[in-house]
Amino acid sequence: MKPTLPPAAVVAAALALIFSAPQVAAAADAGWGEERAMPPPISFADAARLSLAELAARGRRLFLAKFTAAEGAGRPGATGAIVPTKAEETGLPTFFRTAGPDSNACRGCHNDPEPGGAGDFVANAFVSEGFSDADFDTVDPQFSNERGTPALNGSGFVELLAREITAELRAQRRAAAAKARTSGRKLRIALSAKNISFGHLTLHPDGFMDVSELEGIDQDLVVRPFSQKGVFTSLRQFTINALNAHHGLQAVERFGARHTGSADFDKDGVSDEIGAGNITALVVFQALLPPPIAALPQDEAARAAAARGRALFSEIGCASCHMPALPLESAVFTEPGPYNPAGNLRRREVKAPLAFPLNAKGLARDEAGRILVPVFSDFKRHVIADANKPHFANELLAQRFVNRDVFLTARLWGVGDTAPYGHRGDLTTLRGAIMHHGGEAAAAQKAFEALEADDQRRIIAFLQSLKLAGAGGSP
Ligand code: HEC
Ligand code: HEC
Repeated sequence: MKPTLPPAAVVAAALALIFSAPQVAAAADAGWGEERAMPPPISFADAARLSLAELAARGRRLFLAKFTAAEGAGRPGATGAIVPTKAEETGLPTFFRTAGPDSNACRGCHNDPEPGGAGDFVANAFVSEGFSDADFDTVDPQFSNERGTPALNGSGFVELLAREITAELRAQRRAAAAKARTSGRKLRIALSAKNISFGHLTLHPDGFMDVSELEGIDQDLVVRPFSQKGVFTSLRQFTINALNAHHGLQAVERFGARHTGSADFDKDGVSDEIGAGNITALVVFQALLPPPIAALPQDEAARAAAARGRALFSEIGCASCHMPALPLESAVFTEPGPYNPAGNLRRREVKAPLAFPLNAKGLARDEAGRILVPVFSDFKRHVIADANKPHFANELLAQRFVNRDVFLTARLWGVGDTAPYGHRGDLTTLRGAIMHHGGEAAAAQKAFEALEADDQRRIIAFLQSLKLAGAGGSP
């Protein structure tokens, strides 16, 4: 399982291709008169043999592709649910805004300021509880939660941070379980990684675990950094969900004959719609999107305001959740990742994972040489609404086991470029998003409100300086 690393020059070439290649025309390699937008299928092993630049370009092409019925878009016989689920005879049209399929391309929503970016309110998606039951056919909010489209920039770093936190927490659990067993006494430990506290865990000598004091994380200690609810583990898992839900394209590794007994689970007449090689290419494209950066304004007064705003942001307690930077041990991205649930390609299913370094250019390092990822999040879920501040409790549906008023701490990197705000994308200003904080953030919100007007503006100026890198075409 020794990953081989491409030299830095190859990474640079891949990035150059992603950001400066002219928009790749659809289906250059489909035969004449064929209406396919996807590049032809390749296996995982073949994808891993491509140069990183070729793989990333293929991923970009898939992200831009307007998928067609000829290659399997649409799912007359299946719902958008994450677990393969047959559809009832719903009589829904091919495209349907809430139940999906709701769009033609990933870029249809993630397009601002460029492919992979965020989305306008009009690009909101309607997510259901999602795991096995998704055949709703109404816009009644009782059956779906409306969410705004987040930017994917830096998501390779996000997944790596989540993996490292998971690994650290599980190592702590392992060590404590062994100690409890050998000592014959129960042991209560504080779980923490990268300076983030995840509550306590009590291990009993017989292997029983008391998880009632965990904070902001699931009982299996897997950090799930994707979706605003924080319920998905990897880019790969999310990508496979999105392909089915938004486009009716079903990944072989989840919906194929091996798992469902049918090569055409959605009964649209197309078998094996998208295989492991193309899924991998999509993941690579997203993982390589450059991390957002702090770009302080040129103007001296504005610069000073933003700098002071950053200090105030910590002073009034915003940084306790929106942690300015998290240290990353290694920027080598491996695919498939170690914590993929079944129905997504797993480590043990491949001879060797694909491995490549993310571009950490411009990111600071700590004394230990670790990359400081300026993500402004603690990767935890929090209660973010209460009776005084009910706005963020506007969903009617719990998702997985996560309550309606609980969301993942939004990553604020890039927030200066990703309006509108809030999980529903229904807030046009940063101030609005701040003012609606309640629940565990009530004290910080009140502290913000108590600041004099200029200091409030300084915090806004600081948030406005957090920009998506690469906008306009350069990595
Ligand atoms: C209809 C609009 C829409 C389309 C099309 C769409 N997305 Fe998204 N995407 C969203 C929304 C909305 C979210 C936030 C979902 C949530 O919070 O539950 C999201 C979230 C994501 C995330 C998680 C990001 C994060 O930081 O939490 C990934 C990864 C992603 N999309 C990839 C894709 C890919 C790949 C495609 C194409 C196969 C795609 N999306 C198509 C709207 C869309
Ligand atoms: C208890 C943890 C916590 C604290 C403290 C906190 N936040 Fe948040 N913040 C969140 C969560 C969770 C969200 C996601 C809310 C949603 O959309 O459901 C969020 C969202 C945001 C957003 C919107 C981001 C987007 O892309 O839509 C901004 C801006 C923000 N916070 C700024 C602040 C500021 C400024 C402070 C200090 C006054 C602060 N937060 C304090 C947890 C916290």
